[in-house]
Amino acid sequence: MADNLFGGKNSGRSLAGRQKVKTAKRRSMQSTRWLERQLNDPYVRRAHSEGYRSRAAYKLVELDEKFHILRGKKSVLDLGVAPGGWAQVVRRQNPKASVVGIDLLPVEPLEGVILFEMDFMDDAAPGRLIEALGDAPDLILSDMAANTVGHKQTDHLRTMGLVEAAVDFAVNVLKPGGDFVAKVFAGGTDPALLSILKSSFTTVKHAKPPASRKGSVEWYVIAQGKKG
Ligand SMILES: C[S@@+](CC[C@H](N)C(=O)[O-])C[C@H]1O[C@@H](n2cnc3c(N)ncnc32)[C@H](O)[C@@H]1O
Repeated sequence: MADNLFGGKNSGRSLAGRQKVKTAKRRSMQSTRWLERQLNDPYVRRAHSEGYRSRAAYKLVELDEKFHILRGKKSVLDLGVAPGGWAQVVRRQNPKASVVGIDLLPVEPLEGVILFEMDFMDDAAPGRLIEALGDAPDLILSDMAANTVGHKQTDHLRTMGLVEAAVDFAVNVLKPGGDFVAKVFAGGTDPALLSILKSSFTTVKHAKPPASRKGSVEWYVIAQGKKG
């Protein structure tokens, strides 16, 4: 795995004033821990106060601060859009951008965003997305993650299957000069996929933004400057 370009700092993770949650009779230890983490997570609080639907929004904000992914983008596809945090970030940065999102889950309507409740792996999905966008995308974002089953290798393979499909799609449909960002697992992008990205884009980097939880295995691959 490449060095984290954010320098491994986890800004915004102050534990000052940490809240404890009492275990209620009917609440499992697991959900108590989840609740405690939510209550004490500065990104969750920030998302509430700034009107973002997910704390995940800040991962894109931070990736954009580092790599200027959103600068000048007009046609954006958001794969794994639910609940809509990344799409909100795209629209706030570029209010005129056309954004089309797809997710297995339903998403509350978002102004300026066309939403598909559909499996990206469905053969019809790529065509539907391009048709709705009405143009070739200049940015494809994928925050898709397969539902974990708790078996490390299976989870890794399932998410890598989604990344593989997203890379294939991006390489085929992105405008020259366009960018691609996708969630991958620790260990980075697998070598075959990395070589496809390196031959199709001017630069390919990996990063873990500070908003990505330290304990999580997620990283992001950022491929910029699609070759013509
Ligand atoms: C981490 S969430 C995305 C969060 C989003 N970026 C945000 O900021 O709100 C990952 C999403 O990927 C979706 N997903 C997983 N597999 C998918 C598939 N095959 N097709 C479409 N969406 C998928 C999940 O349903 C989930 O909502």
